[in-house]
Amino acid sequence: MFVTLRSFCFLLFLFLQWSHKSKCHELATPPPLPLLPIPTASQLKWQRREIIMFFHFGMNTFTDSEWGTGSESPSVFNPNALDTNQWMDVAADVSVSLAILVAKHHDGFSMWPSAYTTHSVKHSPWRDGKGDLVREFTNAAMARGIDVGLYLSPWDRHERCYGLELEYNEYYLAQLQELLTRYGSVWEIWIDGAKGVKAKNMRYHFQDWFQKIKQLQSTINIFSDAGPDIRWVGDEQGYAGKTNWSPINQSMLRIGDSNMTKYLNKGDEMGTDWVPPECDVSIRKGWFWHKNEEPKSLKQLLDVYYKSVGRNCVLLLNVPPNSTGLVSKHDIIRLKEFRKAIDTIFAVNLAAEDKGGIVKASTQRDGVNLDDFHPKNVLKNDDESYWAPKDSIKGEHWIEIKWRDELVEFNVIRLQEAIWMGQRVQKHEIYADGNKVMIANGTTIGYKRLHRLASVVKAHKLRIVIKKWRIHNKFDGPLLSAVGVHFDPYWQGQ
Ligand SMILES: *[C@@H]1O[C@H](CO)[C@@H](O)[C@H](O)[C@H]1NC(C)=O
Ligand SMILES: *[C@@H]1O[C@H](CO)[C@@H](O)[C@H](O)[C@H]1NC(C)=O
Ligand SMILES: *[C@@H]1O[C@H](CO)[C@@H](O)[C@H](O)[C@H]1NC(C)=O
Ligand SMILES: *[C@@H]1O[C@H](CO)[C@@H](O)[C@H](O)[C@H]1NC(C)=O
Repeated sequence: MFVTLRSFCFLLFLFLQWSHKSKCHELATPPPLPLLPIPTASQLKWQRREIIMFFHFGMNTFTDSEWGTGSESPSVFNPNALDTNQWMDVAADVSVSLAILVAKHHDGFSMWPSAYTTHSVKHSPWRDGKGDLVREFTNAAMARGIDVGLYLSPWDRHERCYGLELEYNEYYLAQLQELLTRYGSVWEIWIDGAKGVKAKNMRYHFQDWFQKIKQLQSTINIFSDAGPDIRWVGDEQGYAGKTNWSPINQSMLRIGDSNMTKYLNKGDEMGTDWVPPECDVSIRKGWFWHKNEEPKSLKQLLDVYYKSVGRNCVLLLNVPPNSTGLVSKHDIIRLKEFRKAIDTIFAVNLAAEDKGGIVKASTQRDGVNLDDFHPKNVLKNDDESYWAPKDSIKGEHWIEIKWRDELVEFNVIRLQEAIWMGQRVQKHEIYADGNKVMIANGTTIGYKRLHRLASVVKAHKLRIVIKKWRIHNKFDGPLLSAVGVHFDPYWQGQ
Protein backbone atom coordinates (compact mmCIF):
# COMPACT_ATOMS: atom_id res chain seq x y z
CA MET A 1 0.00 0.00 0.00
CA PHE A 2 2.78 2.39 1.03
CA VAL A 3 4.73 1.67 -2.18
CA THR A 4 1.67 2.29 -4.36
CA LEU A 5 1.04 5.62 -2.69
CA ARG A 6 4.62 6.64 -3.31
CA SER A 7 4.37 5.63 -6.99
CA PHE A 8 1.10 7.55 -7.23
CA CYS A 9 2.68 10.68 -5.76
CA PHE A 10 5.59 10.36 -8.16
CA LEU A 11 3.26 10.03 -11.18
CA LEU A 12 1.26 13.00 -9.97
CA PHE A 13 4.48 14.99 -9.66
CA LEU A 14 5.47 14.08 -13.24
CA PHE A 15 2.02 14.99 -14.51
CA LEU A 16 2.13 18.38 -12.78
CA GLN A 17 5.56 19.04 -14.20
CA TRP A 18 4.38 18.11 -17.69
CA SER A 19 1.13 20.10 -17.46
CA HIS A 20 3.00 23.12 -16.17
CA LYS A 21 5.33 22.92 -19.13
CA SER A 22 2.62 22.35 -21.70
CA LYS A 23 0.75 25.37 -20.36
CA CYS A 24 3.72 27.50 -21.32
CA HIS A 25 4.62 26.19 -24.79
CA GLU A 26 1.39 24.56 -25.89
CA LEU A 27 2.65 22.75 -28.99
CA ALA A 28 6.42 22.66 -29.00
CA THR A 29 9.50 24.31 -27.61
CA PRO A 30 10.51 27.18 -29.93
CA PRO A 31 14.15 28.05 -30.67
CA PRO A 32 16.03 29.91 -27.94
CA LEU A 33 16.41 33.67 -27.97
CA PRO A 34 19.49 35.17 -29.59
CA LEU A 35 22.12 36.64 -27.30
CA LEU A 36 22.90 40.20 -28.34
CA PRO A 37 24.75 41.59 -30.16
CA ILE A 38 24.14 39.56 -33.34
CA PRO A 39 25.39 40.08 -36.93
CA THR A 40 23.38 41.80 -39.66
CA ALA A 41 22.57 39.78 -42.77
CA SER A 42 25.45 41.52 -44.62
CA GLN A 43 27.93 40.76 -41.85
CA LEU A 44 26.84 37.12 -41.82
CA LYS A 45 27.25 36.85 -45.59
CA TRP A 46 30.72 38.39 -45.32
CA GLN A 47 31.78 36.04 -42.49
CA ARG A 48 30.84 32.94 -44.48
CA ARG A 49 33.16 33.98 -47.33
CA GLU A 50 36.15 33.04 -45.10
CA ILE A 51 38.81 34.05 -47.64
CA ILE A 52 38.56 37.24 -49.72
CA MET A 53 41.14 38.90 -51.96
CA PHE A 54 42.82 42.31 -52.09
CA PHE A 55 44.39 43.75 -55.26
CA HIS A 56 46.99 46.46 -54.63
CA PHE A 57 47.88 47.92 -58.01
CA GLY A 58 48.65 51.51 -58.95
CA MET A 59 51.39 54.07 -59.27
CA ASN A 60 53.54 52.22 -56.72
CA THR A 61 53.60 49.15 -58.99
CA PHE A 62 55.63 51.20 -61.48
CA THR A 63 57.86 53.10 -59.08
CA ASP A 64 58.85 50.12 -56.93
CA SER A 65 57.49 51.74 -53.77
CA GLU A 66 54.91 51.08 -51.06
CA TRP A 67 53.91 54.67 -50.35
CA GLY A 68 54.07 57.09 -53.27
CA THR A 69 54.65 60.80 -52.73
CA GLY A 70 51.80 62.08 -54.90
CA SER A 71 54.18 63.94 -57.19
CA GLU A 72 54.59 61.02 -59.64
CA SER A 73 53.71 61.81 -63.23
CA PRO A 74 50.61 60.01 -64.57
CA SER A 75 52.75 59.14 -67.61
CA VAL A 76 54.47 56.52 -65.43
CA PHE A 77 51.28 54.46 -65.22
CA ASN A 78 51.37 52.27 -68.30
CA PRO A 79 50.72 48.52 -67.92
CA ASN A 80 51.00 47.08 -71.42
CA ALA A 81 48.94 43.92 -71.00
CA LEU A 82 46.61 44.63 -68.09
CA ASP A 83 43.86 42.02 -67.97
CA THR A 84 41.44 41.96 -65.06
CA ASN A 85 39.93 38.77 -66.51
CA GLN A 86 43.20 37.05 -65.64
CA TRP A 87 42.99 38.49 -62.07
CA MET A 88 39.46 37.23 -61.66
CA ASP A 89 40.23 33.82 -63.13
CA VAL A 90 42.77 33.52 -60.34
CA ALA A 91 40.19 34.61 -57.76
CA ALA A 92 37.60 32.17 -59.13
CA ASP A 93 40.16 29.33 -59.23
CA VAL A 94 40.77 29.73 -55.51
CA SER A 95 37.02 30.03 -54.75
CA VAL A 96 37.11 33.62 -53.58
CA SER A 97 33.70 35.33 -53.64
CA LEU A 98 34.74 38.92 -52.86
CA ALA A 99 37.60 40.89 -54.41
CA ILE A 100 38.66 44.33 -53.19
CA LEU A 101 40.48 46.81 -55.44
CA VAL A 102 42.62 49.72 -54.32
CA ALA A 103 40.81 52.51 -56.17
CA LYS A 104 43.15 55.13 -54.68
CA HIS A 105 46.18 54.69 -52.42
CA HIS A 106 47.96 57.34 -50.33
CA ASP A 107 49.62 58.84 -53.45
CA GLY A 108 46.20 60.02 -54.60
CA PHE A 109 46.36 58.51 -58.09
CA SER A 110 42.79 57.52 -58.98
CA MET A 111 42.26 54.28 -60.89
CA TRP A 112 39.06 55.58 -62.44
CA PRO A 113 38.52 58.83 -64.43
CA SER A 114 37.43 60.97 -61.51
CA ALA A 115 35.92 64.33 -62.41
CA TYR A 116 37.68 65.93 -59.44
CA THR A 117 41.38 65.45 -60.21
CA THR A 118 43.91 65.36 -63.01
CA HIS A 119 45.86 62.74 -61.06
CA SER A 120 44.09 59.71 -62.54
CA VAL A 121 44.19 57.06 -65.26
CA LYS A 122 42.54 59.58 -67.57
CA HIS A 123 45.81 61.49 -67.75
CA SER A 124 47.99 58.40 -68.23
CA PRO A 125 49.06 56.70 -71.48
CA TRP A 126 47.19 53.51 -70.48
CA ARG A 127 44.37 52.84 -73.01
CA ASP A 128 45.15 56.33 -74.41
CA GLY A 129 43.59 57.89 -71.35
CA LYS A 130 40.28 56.12 -71.95
CA GLY A 131 40.84 53.39 -69.38
CA ASP A 132 38.84 52.85 -66.19
CA LEU A 133 40.32 50.17 -63.97
CA VAL A 134 37.40 50.17 -61.55
CA ARG A 135 35.07 49.45 -64.50
CA GLU A 136 37.27 46.65 -65.89
CA PHE A 137 37.67 45.18 -62.41
CA THR A 138 33.94 45.19 -61.62
CA ASN A 139 32.99 43.83 -65.06
CA ALA A 140 35.44 40.94 -64.82
CA ALA A 141 34.33 40.14 -61.27
CA MET A 142 30.62 40.24 -62.04
CA ALA A 143 31.09 38.00 -65.10
CA ARG A 144 32.36 35.32 -62.69
CA GLY A 145 29.83 35.89 -59.91
CA ILE A 146 32.47 37.51 -57.70
CA ASP A 147 31.39 40.43 -55.52
CA VAL A 148 33.37 43.66 -55.49
CA GLY A 149 34.83 45.84 -52.74
CA LEU A 150 36.84 49.07 -53.00
CA TYR A 151 39.52 50.85 -50.98
CA LEU A 152 39.61 54.63 -51.13
CA SER A 153 42.47 56.02 -49.05
CA PRO A 154 41.53 59.07 -46.97
CA TRP A 155 45.20 60.09 -46.89
CA ASP A 156 45.90 61.79 -50.22
CA ARG A 157 49.42 63.09 -50.82
CA HIS A 158 48.56 64.62 -54.18
CA GLU A 159 45.33 66.55 -53.66
CA ARG A 160 46.06 70.25 -53.11
CA CYS A 161 43.24 70.83 -50.65
CA TYR A 162 44.44 67.99 -48.41
CA GLY A 163 44.81 69.58 -44.98
CA LEU A 164 41.88 71.97 -45.42
CA GLU A 165 39.14 70.30 -43.45
CA LEU A 166 35.95 71.20 -45.29
CA GLU A 167 37.46 71.28 -48.75
CA TYR A 168 39.13 67.90 -48.40
CA ASN A 169 36.14 66.20 -46.81
CA GLU A 170 34.03 67.42 -49.73
CA TYR A 171 36.61 66.09 -52.18
CA TYR A 172 36.77 62.68 -50.50
CA LEU A 173 33.01 62.36 -50.33
CA ALA A 174 32.63 63.33 -53.99
CA GLN A 175 35.09 60.61 -55.01
CA LEU A 176 33.30 58.14 -52.78
CA GLN A 177 30.03 58.98 -54.51
CA GLU A 178 31.55 58.39 -57.94
CA LEU A 179 32.67 54.95 -56.82
CA LEU A 180 29.38 54.01 -55.18
CA THR A 181 27.06 55.16 -57.95
CA ARG A 182 28.80 54.17 -61.19
CA TYR A 183 29.73 50.54 -60.79
CA GLY A 184 26.74 48.63 -59.41
CA SER A 185 26.76 46.84 -56.06
CA VAL A 186 29.79 47.34 -53.85
CA TRP A 187 29.92 44.86 -50.94
CA GLU A 188 32.75 46.25 -48.88
CA ILE A 189 34.30 49.69 -48.62
CA TRP A 190 37.72 49.81 -47.04
CA ILE A 191 38.78 52.89 -45.11
CA ASP A 192 41.80 53.47 -42.89
CA GLY A 193 42.82 56.35 -40.69
CA ALA A 194 46.26 57.09 -42.18
CA LYS A 195 47.09 60.80 -42.19
CA GLY A 196 49.89 63.05 -43.38
CA VAL A 197 51.64 65.63 -41.19
CA LYS A 198 49.97 68.35 -43.25
CA ALA A 199 46.65 67.16 -41.84
CA LYS A 200 47.53 66.87 -38.16
CA ASN A 201 44.71 69.16 -37.19
CA MET A 202 42.28 68.17 -39.93
CA ARG A 203 39.46 65.81 -39.01
CA TYR A 204 38.11 63.24 -41.40
CA HIS A 205 34.33 63.46 -41.27
CA PHE A 206 33.80 59.73 -40.93
CA GLN A 207 30.18 60.02 -39.88
CA ASP A 208 29.26 62.02 -42.98
CA TRP A 209 31.05 59.49 -45.14
CA PHE A 210 29.58 56.43 -43.40
CA GLN A 211 26.02 57.65 -43.55
CA LYS A 212 26.38 58.58 -47.21
CA ILE A 213 27.88 55.17 -47.97
CA LYS A 214 24.90 53.39 -46.36
CA GLN A 215 22.46 55.63 -48.19
CA LEU A 216 24.01 54.72 -51.55
CA GLN A 217 24.69 51.03 -50.88
CA SER A 218 22.38 49.53 -48.29
CA THR A 219 23.97 46.05 -48.17
CA ILE A 220 27.58 47.24 -48.03
CA ASN A 221 29.95 46.49 -45.13
CA ILE A 222 32.13 49.39 -44.01
CA PHE A 223 35.61 48.35 -42.88
CA SER A 224 37.77 50.56 -40.67
CA ASP A 225 39.69 50.37 -37.37
CA ALA A 226 36.35 51.02 -35.71
CA GLY A 227 33.82 49.40 -38.02
CA PRO A 228 30.89 50.11 -38.07
CA ASP A 229 30.51 46.72 -39.83
CA ILE A 230 33.97 45.15 -39.94
CA ARG A 231 36.97 46.02 -37.79
CA TRP A 232 40.69 45.76 -38.44
CA VAL A 233 42.29 42.90 -36.50
CA GLY A 234 45.12 45.14 -35.28
CA ASP A 235 48.08 43.75 -37.27
CA GLU A 236 49.13 43.13 -40.87
CA GLN A 237 50.45 39.58 -40.33
CA GLY A 238 47.01 38.04 -40.68
CA TYR A 239 46.89 36.84 -37.08
CA ALA A 240 43.84 37.19 -34.85
CA GLY A 241 44.02 36.78 -31.08
CA LYS A 242 43.57 33.25 -29.70
CA THR A 243 40.69 34.83 -27.85
CA ASN A 244 38.65 36.63 -30.46
CA TRP A 245 35.20 38.10 -29.87
CA SER A 246 33.18 39.62 -32.68
CA PRO A 247 31.46 41.82 -30.08
CA ILE A 248 33.36 44.96 -29.08
CA ASN A 249 32.51 48.39 -27.69
CA GLN A 250 32.54 50.70 -30.67
CA SER A 251 32.48 53.68 -28.35
CA MET A 252 36.03 52.78 -27.28
CA LEU A 253 37.44 52.67 -30.80
CA ARG A 254 39.17 55.51 -32.65
CA ILE A 255 40.03 55.24 -36.33
CA GLY A 256 43.77 55.57 -36.83
CA ASP A 257 44.63 55.28 -33.12
CA SER A 258 47.51 52.84 -32.82
CA ASN A 259 46.96 52.17 -29.12
CA MET A 260 43.81 50.18 -29.96
CA THR A 261 45.54 47.21 -31.57
CA LYS A 262 45.37 44.87 -28.55
CA TYR A 263 41.67 45.52 -28.06
CA LEU A 264 41.01 45.07 -31.81
CA ASN A 265 42.96 41.81 -31.83
CA LYS A 266 40.70 40.07 -29.32
CA GLY A 267 37.43 41.97 -29.15
CA ASP A 268 35.38 42.19 -25.96
CA GLU A 269 33.19 39.49 -24.43
CA MET A 270 31.14 42.29 -22.86
CA GLY A 271 31.02 44.23 -26.14
CA THR A 272 27.72 45.80 -27.09
CA ASP A 273 28.36 45.99 -30.86
CA TRP A 274 28.84 43.22 -33.42
CA VAL A 275 31.97 44.33 -35.32
CA PRO A 276 33.89 41.21 -36.43
CA PRO A 277 37.58 41.43 -37.40
CA GLU A 278 39.18 41.10 -40.81
CA CYS A 279 42.79 39.86 -41.11
CA ASP A 280 44.59 41.68 -43.92
CA VAL A 281 47.90 40.28 -45.08
CA SER A 282 49.85 40.22 -48.34
CA ILE A 283 50.93 37.05 -50.11
CA ARG A 284 54.30 38.82 -50.49
CA LYS A 285 56.27 41.04 -48.15
CA GLY A 286 54.93 44.25 -49.70
CA TRP A 287 51.37 45.28 -50.52
CA PHE A 288 52.45 46.32 -54.03
CA TRP A 289 54.35 44.19 -56.51
CA HIS A 290 58.15 44.38 -56.43
CA LYS A 291 60.36 42.49 -58.84
CA ASN A 292 62.61 41.15 -56.09
CA GLU A 293 59.87 39.74 -53.83
CA GLU A 294 58.50 36.21 -53.78
CA PRO A 295 55.21 34.86 -52.46
CA LYS A 296 55.09 33.36 -48.97
CA SER A 297 55.58 29.60 -48.67
CA LEU A 298 52.60 27.25 -48.48
CA LYS A 299 53.53 26.53 -44.87
CA GLN A 300 53.36 30.26 -44.03
CA LEU A 301 50.03 30.67 -45.80
CA LEU A 302 48.52 27.71 -43.96
CA ASP A 303 49.79 29.18 -40.70
CA VAL A 304 47.99 32.43 -41.58
CA TYR A 305 44.83 30.48 -42.43
CA TYR A 306 44.76 28.65 -39.08
CA LYS A 307 45.40 31.90 -37.20
CA SER A 308 42.82 33.97 -39.10
CA VAL A 309 39.92 31.88 -40.41
CA GLY A 310 40.69 29.40 -37.63
CA ARG A 311 40.30 32.17 -35.05
CA ASN A 312 36.96 33.68 -36.00
CA CYS A 313 38.34 36.03 -38.68
CA VAL A 314 37.88 36.59 -42.40
CA LEU A 315 41.20 36.41 -44.25
CA LEU A 316 41.77 39.29 -46.68
CA LEU A 317 44.68 38.05 -48.78
CA ASN A 318 46.46 40.61 -50.96
CA VAL A 319 47.76 39.50 -54.37
CA PRO A 320 49.52 42.37 -56.15
CA PRO A 321 49.46 42.31 -59.97
CA ASN A 322 52.81 43.13 -61.61
CA SER A 323 53.76 46.06 -63.85
CA THR A 324 52.60 44.18 -66.94
CA GLY A 325 49.14 44.30 -65.36
CA LEU A 326 48.94 40.58 -64.60
CA VAL A 327 49.11 38.39 -61.52
CA SER A 328 52.54 36.74 -61.57
CA LYS A 329 52.83 33.06 -62.32
CA HIS A 330 54.55 32.38 -58.98
CA ASP A 331 51.65 33.83 -57.03
CA ILE A 332 49.14 31.83 -59.07
CA ILE A 333 50.98 28.58 -58.43
CA ARG A 334 51.17 29.32 -54.69
CA LEU A 335 47.49 30.30 -54.48
CA LYS A 336 46.43 27.08 -56.17
CA GLU A 337 48.58 25.04 -53.78
CA PHE A 338 46.99 26.91 -50.89
CA ARG A 339 43.44 26.23 -52.09
CA LYS A 340 44.23 22.59 -52.78
CA ALA A 341 45.72 22.18 -49.30
CA ILE A 342 42.64 23.63 -47.60
CA ASP A 343 40.33 21.47 -49.70
CA THR A 344 42.41 18.39 -48.93
CA ILE A 345 42.46 19.01 -45.18
CA PHE A 346 38.74 19.66 -44.84
CA ALA A 347 37.28 17.40 -47.56
CA VAL A 348 36.75 14.58 -45.10
CA ASN A 349 35.08 14.96 -41.71
CA LEU A 350 36.07 11.90 -39.73
CA ALA A 351 33.21 12.56 -37.32
CA ALA A 352 30.66 11.83 -40.09
CA GLU A 353 28.30 8.89 -39.82
CA ASP A 354 29.79 7.19 -42.89
CA LYS A 355 33.16 7.29 -41.14
CA GLY A 356 31.64 5.44 -38.21
CA GLY A 357 31.07 8.49 -36.03
CA ILE A 358 28.28 8.51 -33.46
CA VAL A 359 27.39 11.84 -31.86
CA LYS A 360 26.06 12.22 -28.34
CA ALA A 361 25.62 15.29 -26.16
CA SER A 362 25.04 16.18 -22.52
CA THR A 363 21.43 17.23 -23.16
CA GLN A 364 19.21 18.31 -26.04
CA ARG A 365 16.60 21.02 -26.26
CA ASP A 366 13.08 19.94 -27.33
CA GLY A 367 11.82 21.22 -30.64
CA VAL A 368 8.98 20.71 -33.11
CA ASN A 369 10.85 17.69 -34.47
CA LEU A 370 13.20 15.41 -32.64
CA ASP A 371 16.19 16.54 -34.73
CA ASP A 372 15.60 20.32 -34.49
CA PHE A 373 18.36 20.77 -31.90
CA HIS A 374 19.89 17.30 -32.17
CA PRO A 375 23.66 16.95 -31.60
CA LYS A 376 23.86 15.32 -35.07
CA ASN A 377 23.21 18.78 -36.55
CA VAL A 378 26.89 19.59 -36.06
CA LEU A 379 27.65 17.18 -38.92
CA LYS A 380 25.28 18.78 -41.43
CA ASN A 381 26.78 20.93 -44.16
CA ASP A 382 24.19 23.66 -43.81
CA ASP A 383 24.15 27.14 -42.40
CA GLU A 384 21.07 26.94 -40.23
CA SER A 385 20.99 23.94 -37.95
CA TYR A 386 22.75 23.59 -34.64
CA TRP A 387 22.86 21.55 -31.46
CA ALA A 388 21.27 23.24 -28.44
CA PRO A 389 21.43 21.81 -24.93
CA LYS A 390 18.26 21.72 -22.83
CA ASP A 391 19.05 24.77 -20.78
CA SER A 392 21.88 26.57 -19.20
CA ILE A 393 22.55 24.19 -16.34
CA LYS A 394 25.34 25.09 -13.98
CA GLY A 395 28.58 23.30 -14.70
CA GLU A 396 29.31 22.32 -18.26
CA HIS A 397 27.93 20.93 -21.50
CA TRP A 398 29.61 18.43 -23.75
CA ILE A 399 29.31 16.86 -27.16
CA GLU A 400 31.02 13.62 -28.00
CA ILE A 401 32.06 11.69 -31.10
CA LYS A 402 32.50 7.97 -30.65
CA TRP A 403 33.78 5.68 -33.37
CA ARG A 404 32.15 2.29 -33.76
CA ASP A 405 35.17 0.06 -34.09
CA GLU A 406 38.17 1.74 -35.56
CA LEU A 407 40.86 3.79 -33.90
CA VAL A 408 40.72 7.12 -35.73
CA GLU A 409 43.75 9.32 -36.51
CA PHE A 410 43.46 13.09 -36.66
CA ASN A 411 45.38 16.30 -35.96
CA VAL A 412 42.84 19.07 -36.53
CA ILE A 413 39.57 19.84 -34.74
CA ARG A 414 37.08 22.32 -36.15
CA LEU A 415 34.41 23.94 -33.99
CA GLN A 416 31.77 26.41 -35.13
CA GLU A 417 29.15 28.36 -33.22
CA ALA A 418 25.74 29.38 -34.53
CA ILE A 419 26.88 33.00 -34.53
CA TRP A 420 23.60 34.30 -35.95
CA MET A 421 22.35 33.56 -32.41
CA GLY A 422 25.24 35.53 -30.88
CA GLN A 423 28.77 34.53 -29.89
CA ARG A 424 28.66 32.67 -26.56
CA VAL A 425 31.47 30.23 -25.77
CA GLN A 426 34.09 31.59 -23.32
CA LYS A 427 36.07 28.46 -22.51
CA HIS A 428 36.28 24.96 -23.98
CA GLU A 429 38.38 21.82 -23.64
CA ILE A 430 38.80 18.80 -25.89
CA TYR A 431 39.54 15.31 -24.60
CA ALA A 432 40.44 12.05 -26.32
CA ASP A 433 39.39 8.65 -24.92
CA GLY A 434 37.79 9.46 -21.62
CA ASN A 435 38.24 12.57 -19.54
CA LYS A 436 41.92 12.28 -18.78
CA VAL A 437 43.83 13.28 -21.91
CA MET A 438 43.20 16.90 -22.84
CA ILE A 439 44.36 17.36 -26.43
CA ALA A 440 43.31 20.98 -26.95
CA ASN A 441 41.70 23.86 -25.10
CA GLY A 442 40.84 27.45 -25.66
CA THR A 443 38.56 30.36 -24.94
CA THR A 444 36.38 31.62 -27.83
CA ILE A 445 35.04 29.65 -30.79
CA GLY A 446 32.95 32.13 -32.81
CA TYR A 447 32.20 31.47 -36.46
CA LYS A 448 35.10 29.02 -36.70
CA ARG A 449 37.81 27.78 -34.39
CA LEU A 450 40.51 25.44 -35.67
CA HIS A 451 42.77 23.56 -33.30
CA ARG A 452 45.93 22.15 -34.85
CA LEU A 453 47.04 19.48 -32.42
CA ALA A 454 50.62 19.17 -31.19
CA SER A 455 50.80 15.69 -32.74
CA VAL A 456 48.58 13.11 -34.44
CA VAL A 457 46.02 11.64 -32.04
CA LYS A 458 44.65 8.10 -32.32
CA ALA A 459 41.38 7.68 -30.45
CA HIS A 460 38.07 5.84 -30.14
CA LYS A 461 36.33 8.82 -28.64
CA LEU A 462 36.52 12.59 -28.60
CA ARG A 463 34.73 14.84 -26.14
CA ILE A 464 34.33 18.59 -26.50
CA VAL A 465 33.51 20.18 -23.18
CA ILE A 466 32.08 23.68 -23.09
CA LYS A 467 33.18 24.98 -19.69
CA LYS A 468 31.86 28.54 -19.78
CA TRP A 469 29.55 30.60 -21.96
CA ARG A 470 27.79 33.96 -21.89
CA ILE A 471 24.38 33.88 -20.23
CA HIS A 472 21.58 36.45 -20.16
CA ASN A 473 18.74 34.12 -19.22
CA LYS A 474 18.39 30.62 -17.83
CA PHE A 475 17.86 29.03 -21.26
CA ASP A 476 21.07 30.43 -22.78
CA GLY A 477 23.36 27.53 -23.64
CA PRO A 478 26.28 27.16 -26.04
CA LEU A 479 24.99 26.57 -29.60
CA LEU A 480 27.33 24.61 -31.87
CA SER A 481 26.64 24.48 -35.60
CA ALA A 482 29.57 22.31 -36.64
CA VAL A 483 32.19 19.92 -35.33
CA GLY A 484 34.85 18.61 -37.68
CA VAL A 485 37.58 16.06 -37.07
CA HIS A 486 40.25 16.23 -39.75
CA PHE A 487 43.64 15.03 -40.81
CA ASP A 488 46.06 17.68 -42.10
CA PRO A 489 48.85 15.93 -44.06
CA TYR A 490 50.78 19.24 -44.33
CA TRP A 491 51.05 19.71 -40.55
CA GLN A 492 54.13 18.19 -38.97
CA GLY A 493 53.12 19.07 -35.44
CA GLN A 494 55.00 21.13 -32.90
C1 LIG B 1 44.23 55.61 -26.67
O1 LIG B 1 44.51 56.98 -26.89
C2 LIG B 1 43.40 57.85 -26.72
C3 LIG B 1 43.85 59.23 -27.11
O2 LIG B 1 44.27 59.22 -28.45
C4 LIG B 1 42.94 57.78 -25.27
O3 LIG B 1 41.81 58.60 -25.10
C5 LIG B 1 42.59 56.35 -24.92
O4 LIG B 1 42.28 56.24 -23.56
C6 LIG B 1 43.73 55.41 -25.24
N1 LIG B 1 43.26 54.04 -25.07
C7 LIG B 1 43.98 53.09 -24.48
C8 LIG B 1 43.35 51.73 -24.45
O5 LIG B 1 45.08 53.27 -24.02
C1 LIG C 1 31.99 47.38 -22.90
O1 LIG C 1 30.69 47.80 -22.58
C2 LIG C 1 30.05 46.99 -21.60
C3 LIG C 1 28.61 47.46 -21.45
O2 LIG C 1 28.57 48.82 -21.21
C4 LIG C 1 30.83 47.06 -20.30
O3 LIG C 1 30.23 46.22 -19.35
C5 LIG C 1 32.26 46.63 -20.55
O4 LIG C 1 33.04 46.77 -19.39
C6 LIG C 1 32.88 47.46 -21.67
N1 LIG C 1 34.22 46.95 -21.97
C7 LIG C 1 35.33 47.61 -21.63
C8 LIG C 1 36.63 46.96 -22.01
O5 LIG C 1 35.31 48.68 -21.08
C1 LIG D 1 53.76 39.52 -64.90
O1 LIG D 1 53.21 38.21 -64.81
C2 LIG D 1 52.96 37.59 -66.06
C3 LIG D 1 52.30 36.26 -65.77
O2 LIG D 1 53.18 35.45 -65.05
C4 LIG D 1 54.25 37.47 -66.85
O3 LIG D 1 53.98 36.94 -68.13
C5 LIG D 1 54.93 38.82 -66.99
O4 LIG D 1 56.18 38.69 -67.59
C6 LIG D 1 55.09 39.46 -65.63
N1 LIG D 1 55.61 40.80 -65.75
C7 LIG D 1 56.70 41.21 -65.09
C8 LIG D 1 57.11 42.64 -65.31
O5 LIG D 1 57.34 40.48 -64.36
C1 LIG E 1 44.67 25.19 -21.40
O1 LIG E 1 45.19 24.23 -20.53
C2 LIG E 1 46.45 24.57 -19.94
C3 LIG E 1 46.93 23.38 -19.14
O2 LIG E 1 45.97 22.99 -18.19
C4 LIG E 1 46.30 25.83 -19.12
O3 LIG E 1 47.54 26.21 -18.58
C5 LIG E 1 45.75 26.95 -19.98
O4 LIG E 1 45.49 28.10 -19.20
C6 LIG E 1 44.45 26.51 -20.66
N1 LIG E 1 44.03 27.54 -21.59
C7 LIG E 1 42.79 27.96 -21.66
C8 LIG E 1 42.52 29.03 -22.66
O5 LIG E 1 41.90 27.54 -20.94
